[in-house]
Amino acid sequence: MRILSGIQPSGVLHIGNYFGMIQPAIALQAEGEAFYFIANYHALTSVQNPDRLRENSRRIAIDFLACGFDPDRGALFLQSDVPQVAELEWILSTVAPMGLLERAHSYKDKLARGMVASAGLFIYPVLMAADILIYDSDIVPVGKDQKQHIEITRDLAVKMNETYGSEPDRPIFKLPAPRIQPETETVPGIDGQKMSKSYGNTIDIFGEEKETRKRVMSIVTDSTPVEAPKNPDTSTTFQLFSLFGSKDEIAEMRDRFRKGGTGYGEFKKQLFDKLWDYFAPMRKRRQELLADKLYVDKVLVRGAQRANEVADGVMIRVRAAVGLT
Ligand code: ADP
Ligand code: TRP
Repeated sequence: MRILSGIQPSGVLHIGNYFGMIQPAIALQAEGEAFYFIANYHALTSVQNPDRLRENSRRIAIDFLACGFDPDRGALFLQSDVPQVAELEWILSTVAPMGLLERAHSYKDKLARGMVASAGLFIYPVLMAADILIYDSDIVPVGKDQKQHIEITRDLAVKMNETYGSEPDRPIFKLPAPRIQPETETVPGIDGQKMSKSYGNTIDIFGEEKETRKRVMSIVTDSTPVEAPKNPDTSTTFQLFSLFGSKDEIAEMRDRFRKGGTGYGEFKKQLFDKLWDYFAPMRKRRQELLADKLYVDKVLVRGAQRANEVADGVMIRVRAAVGLT
């Protein structure tokens, strides 16, 4: 079984990325061959500073390894080290209905946030489909916001199979399935909206201690007084604590919310302590990785070799199926 996912090097990783995608993706390494890549082609739709793109890409590779990715059990690579995906993107774009792409939420959201409507931004989901299909991927671990992109991928795979598949029992493309963890599909940010680097509401995985504490302490709360009972189910602080605490700790915080007598500041302190301890071993590993430049380079080269082997095989099949060879 092949598990595939990508993450754009468009900023710093936050705990929404961690619980929505990184942690489930790393856990899935036990179930098959993992292919995880740094989506630098995709990031060109928003990062147009070459030094920053290079720097972000490297940092994401380091962070992924620090979070526990095991390069002996899977491939970690840069998207652009498999340039065949751009060829497959073109081929898929010739069967991609405009209407399908026009309905993409992520495209509409990006325009609503003021991004320029480039052709690249519009066909972003087609490149993503190419990323997934070029490795015959079975499972794609992502957060909920990417679900529609996987549906588009499946639609394009079906279209290709119908248009070019000569034998129904031997389709050109496998249909991939999203893997979305219901408990962590949308991690809230400090303002209670979905945590996202574009909303400036993140708590970063590897932020400085002082800044991280400040971010946690500024989680938006209602104005219930200290002595009054509080509703844990509408509290961002409680929701975030639930990601880190043990079952007993979560139950205990729930009780203290309901009882009253504890202020939000106190709950936030508890959240910060838990969060800070949780990432401590990963911070330590990250320091080691930062000091070993060669190791990370080697991991990325090895990952790209493995990814190219698989992509080359699939592209032979695709080129033949459409009549390029
Ligand atoms: P951002 O919204 O910060 O730009 P990305 O779009 O780069 O994040 O997301 C990278 C991965 O992390 C995707 O799989 C996405 O679904 C997941 N993800 C991002 N934010 C969250 C969140 N708040 N909750 C759960 N998953 C998330
Ligand atoms: N669009 C994804 C995001 O913003 C990143 C991505 C690119 C991706 N290609 C992918 C995710 C293929 C999963 C599979 O998070």
